[in-house]
Amino acid sequence: MNDRVDPAHFQSRTTQLEHANGASHNATDNPTMGEIISRRFSRRGILKGALAVSAISATVSPLALLAADKARAAGTSAFNFTELEAGVDADHHVAEGYDANVLLRWGDPLFADSPAFDPTAQTADSQRRQFGYNNDFLGYVPLDGSAEHGLLLVNHEYTDAQLMFPGIAKVVEKEGKKVLETAPLTKEQVDVEIAAHGATVVEIRKVDGKWQLVTDSPYNRRITADTEMEIAGPAAGHDRLKTAADASGAKVLGMINNCAGGVTPWGSFVSGEENFHGYFSGELPADHAEAKNYERYGVPEGSYEWGSHYDRFDVSKEPNEPNRFGWIVEIDPMDANSVPKKRTALGRTKHEGAESIVAKDGRVVFYLGDDERFDYVYKFVTTGTYSADDRAANMNLLDEGTLYVAKFAEDGSLTWMPLTHGEGPLTAENGFAGQADVLIGTRLAADLLGATKMDRPEDIEPNGKNGKVYVMLTNNTRREAEQIDAANPRAKNAFGHIIEITEAEGDFTATSGTWEILLKCGDPSVAEVGASFSTDTTANGWFGMPDNCVVDAEGRLWVSTDGQNFKATGRTDGVWAVDTEGDARATSKLFYRVPVGAELCGPQITPDMATMFVAVQHPAEGGEEWPELAAPPTTRTPPLAGRTSRTTCRRGHRSSSSPNRVAERSLADRFDSRARWMFAHHPPRDKT
Ligand code: FEO
Ligand code: CA
Ligand code: CA
Repeated sequence: MNDRVDPAHFQSRTTQLEHANGASHNATDNPTMGEIISRRFSRRGILKGALAVSAISATVSPLALLAADKARAAGTSAFNFTELEAGVDADHHVAEGYDANVLLRWGDPLFADSPAFDPTAQTADSQRRQFGYNNDFLGYVPLDGSAEHGLLLVNHEYTDAQLMFPGIAKVVEKEGKKVLETAPLTKEQVDVEIAAHGATVVEIRKVDGKWQLVTDSPYNRRITADTEMEIAGPAAGHDRLKTAADASGAKVLGMINNCAGGVTPWGSFVSGEENFHGYFSGELPADHAEAKNYERYGVPEGSYEWGSHYDRFDVSKEPNEPNRFGWIVEIDPMDANSVPKKRTALGRTKHEGAESIVAKDGRVVFYLGDDERFDYVYKFVTTGTYSADDRAANMNLLDEGTLYVAKFAEDGSLTWMPLTHGEGPLTAENGFAGQADVLIGTRLAADLLGATKMDRPEDIEPNGKNGKVYVMLTNNTRREAEQIDAANPRAKNAFGHIIEITEAEGDFTATSGTWEILLKCGDPSVAEVGASFSTDTTANGWFGMPDNCVVDAEGRLWVSTDGQNFKATGRTDGVWAVDTEGDARATSKLFYRVPVGAELCGPQITPDMATMFVAVQHPAEGGEEWPELAAPPTTRTPPLAGRTSRTTCRRGHRSSSSPNRVAERSLADRFDSRARWMFAHHPPRDKT
């Protein structure tokens, strides 16, 4: 499967690219809905924003995202910013009155001795001293309680070789379609990929109204897919976690595909390993003990080439290695020498986030989405309680507790079913000899409990102000009419929805509750879409594909999106402010939008609500949709003049040898800032 010269290898890459693109998630998978919306927008004309360019942002400040409307009780919106116009172009845009500034880009130095970024001479050693690729989750941990001085926590989800390494990709025509082909990677390039994954911890400080890095900070740290970690909790040391390199079953190198995450009440960084299956290649014998388990997780998927250079990523050589990924990893950002811990008590899934809240009795509750079509919503309740004045004790809370999976009933009730060995069907007769088996095969255990199959559960956010929990469900175009249920009410769900959970008696540890749909997403003016935004929501205010979210200090919900399919919807991804209370409930307003092809990840807001940090991931992704953009400069023939902004965007990234370089220098330079924020094919997130 991973034959480095087999054309099928290229096809595999190409497929990834198509999955990465919004069109694949939406219109392609859902031709009926896509056609409806495309017709609508071709009549209206895609809303193209001006090509007024400023630097891409990491921070949105200084004004307050503030503006919390004190008249909320009177039924008006809790947000009073002037809504941004939706549109498509190569720049980013923020609502009037707010600033947007770059804070960090791929390759930026994190330490006083970091080498300068040079895309033509990348090495793993350099990358380990620089900001990693494809930033996703963002967390903020105040230092000394400050909203203007703290640690920024960042996940680096995945890499995209054809965009990282100049000259390895070319556009070819296959079956009448232009697609990208990528040359096999060298071991040195794989090492750069490994070093570009993981996480960054970096000290930041606001000086004269602008955030800056502190590059000589003792807190600064790069964690990679090769960093030594400990496996902790009930599954640690189990035979199924032992490998040739680790007879203890309790030590592992690295974390991969870390998507969203959370900051715990005690200030640690919890990071979710999501699409880990793509990093494993090779063949597992059909009668292997892990065959059923791996099939349920899609292992091995083989979209990365790491198995060609490292045996541990080849399941035919190291069959247990995949069991050591798919966990929530806890990192102590206050100690750059601390060993990250994979907390097995929280289960093994394709983890999106891990947002938490302290319940009334002091136990801590974590909400966890397993992001795949037809997968489940989980929560974890610690056995111990949070101590405000004993951080060291809190650092062990995640090794003991109860993991639950959700059943959303038709009558609006919710049951959290424990994934506890010995309870119900979770017995040796069904393949679960102990709690370690339940956790290593979390999905199989949840299947037996009859959990509700959801439309791609992503970020889940508890709201301490109103006692609710918000579940982002991105989409699921493979749900057929006969598979509809009350909690997933649309077939061919191209735009996703948001569920609001109310735990019984307002207790986040409750094993029951109720739920309702806050929003069905998509264009509400197209009846066939079946969206349910309030009538106050404008043509700019609706969105699709909710992915990450954040609740601010006033309990207001902000939602970011992944995969707007700009051709069909006339809008890029961005951040929308969503009212949840009173008459304004289900009203949404556009606050910030990203360059074409980008996904907006990790919105995070400082405690004073003066700054929103955002992760602009993979601008210009989906180059196969614009082959002239994807082509290396030497094979590019169309002249630049008169081209769309997105052409300029991609061109800028590769402009160093372009004949049009001089004329476009300023745009190219600007895009260089933006390009280094990340690109990529998308990992195989949308397998059923
Ligand atoms: Fe990495 Fe579910 O997004
Ligand atoms: Ca995500
Ligand atoms: Ca979040």
